[in-house]
Amino acid sequence: MEMEKLVSLCKRRGFLYQSSEIYGGLNGFWDYGPLGVELKRNIKEAWWRDMVTSHDELVVPSGAPCAYEMVGLDCTIIMHPQVWKCSGHYDVFHDFMVDCRQSKRRYRHDQVQGRWVSCQGRRIFVATEADGEEALQDTQHKALKFFNLRAKDADRLAWESDLLCLTEVKDFSAVLGPDAKELGTLTEPREYNLMFKTYVGALSGEEGAAFLRPETAQGIFVNFKNVLDSTRVAVPFGIAQIGKSFRNEITPRYFTFRSREFEQMEIEFFCHPSQSRAWYEYWRNRRYQWYLSLGLAGERLRLRDHTPEELSHYSCGTADIEYAFPFLPPGKFGELEGIAHRGDFDLRSHMEGKLVRQDGGYVVELGPDGKPRHPGSGKDLTYFDDQTRERYIPHVIEPSAGADRAALAFLCEAYQEDQVPDEHGNPRDRVFLRLHPRLAPIKAAVFPLVRKDGMPEAAQRIYRSLKPHFNVFYDEKGAVGRRYARQDEVGTPYCITVDGQTALDGTVTFRDRDTLRQWRVRADDCLGELRRLVGVS
Ligand code: GAP
Repeated sequence: MEMEKLVSLCKRRGFLYQSSEIYGGLNGFWDYGPLGVELKRNIKEAWWRDMVTSHDELVVPSGAPCAYEMVGLDCTIIMHPQVWKCSGHYDVFHDFMVDCRQSKRRYRHDQVQGRWVSCQGRRIFVATEADGEEALQDTQHKALKFFNLRAKDADRLAWESDLLCLTEVKDFSAVLGPDAKELGTLTEPREYNLMFKTYVGALSGEEGAAFLRPETAQGIFVNFKNVLDSTRVAVPFGIAQIGKSFRNEITPRYFTFRSREFEQMEIEFFCHPSQSRAWYEYWRNRRYQWYLSLGLAGERLRLRDHTPEELSHYSCGTADIEYAFPFLPPGKFGELEGIAHRGDFDLRSHMEGKLVRQDGGYVVELGPDGKPRHPGSGKDLTYFDDQTRERYIPHVIEPSAGADRAALAFLCEAYQEDQVPDEHGNPRDRVFLRLHPRLAPIKAAVFPLVRKDGMPEAAQRIYRSLKPHFNVFYDEKGAVGRRYARQDEVGTPYCITVDGQTALDGTVTFRDRDTLRQWRVRADDCLGELRRLVGVS
């Protein structure tokens, strides 16, 4: 599937728009249109229902060490600045960037790659932001231009390396930046904190400085004790949260994949340290199955364990659920969700102060005065088990998903093209979104075949009987084939048509978007039929 086709459909049919588009847009920010907002809400609701409200705490789920409880939270976006100092985000949540003095553009150091090439007695590193085959073409094009050669002279370029990341180049004086015309215009890499800074209240100085949260997780950790004290949950249990997060990404790209404002769906699961490995395995598999159950195909979805070098500063084990997004080079996958074994890092940091790695473990980082560099809350965030009489700091397993990335993956997976017969039996090209019925923005469209013979009235009665239960759509304009096509294109799984036979025997036609199968259902059983097809609502 070509990504441009999906991007165009999303704009044309009201799934996604560029934020502030009439002012030229704002890079890294996206608005969801009337259909997009329904899709994203359905994803978040499916997650919340499957992970939280319909979770049965009396049953041991398959693969879990024992039964467990789940509750939810909704915390603020701006939190006490000390939260981010203790979590580590203040000190280590950064990327390295390089600036180009000539083009004035900024790049993420680890996202620029290039190739060494020799020509006319000079050896230069030609850099690009592209990936894969596109990167090879782009570097060749740039090298030809730099050496003033024509395409037919390409064999005068002696390539001396495969594509390398810019992080492997030590001396930038021979680097031709991705948008530069001369060598040596890139600055040395500099640290760049990804948190958005703001000021709270009338204090405009550093006293009032605060941050927009870069993850929802910390709101859960700092409320761990509140939840324990105000509910009857006992370890093992999970706290779930859905909400906006903000990261000032250096290079937002790939449509909504890397945005600066996005939504996360996170669970912090608290368990006894001796069981944390088993719970980690459970959540890894459980989350992977969730995407499969909603229609992401097995071969484009994979579960990948991080190598030790990749692990975050807090993590002693992480797996990513990844999807082969069509905008990535063949064979490459992009992260949809991370499942991290965070040990006791977060609760300990918020109790004792910011931790740093030392001798294979973690210790509180001390400042020059010998006191904690970023002191914790000093509150007791341990857990006391009434039955075993044991006190301990629970370990945490964190399945952390992005709602926008999930929406993008479901859209990419759903996009299909085929041919269907038109009303004369001739093949007609069709674009349709094969979205899972739970996720589809509109569950059914109701049509009168023609605008006469009482058909619109009968169709409107059906529409009204369904509307309190499902998001359904009524349409009587234009040829019925055209109306089917419009619904297929936005992923509506079922169309219900009132036709000539309805007045005779009280039945209507149901049509399935994917198989095009049609069958008749009693007009007064449309709600029951839709419930059977989509799930109870
Ligand atoms: N609490 C852990 C955490 O935040 P993460 O891997 O940085 O981990 C979790 O983020 C998920 O949030 C990612 O798997 C991705 O789905 C989503 N996400 C992260 N950065 C994003 C961005 N810039 N744009 C869209 N989604 C993003």
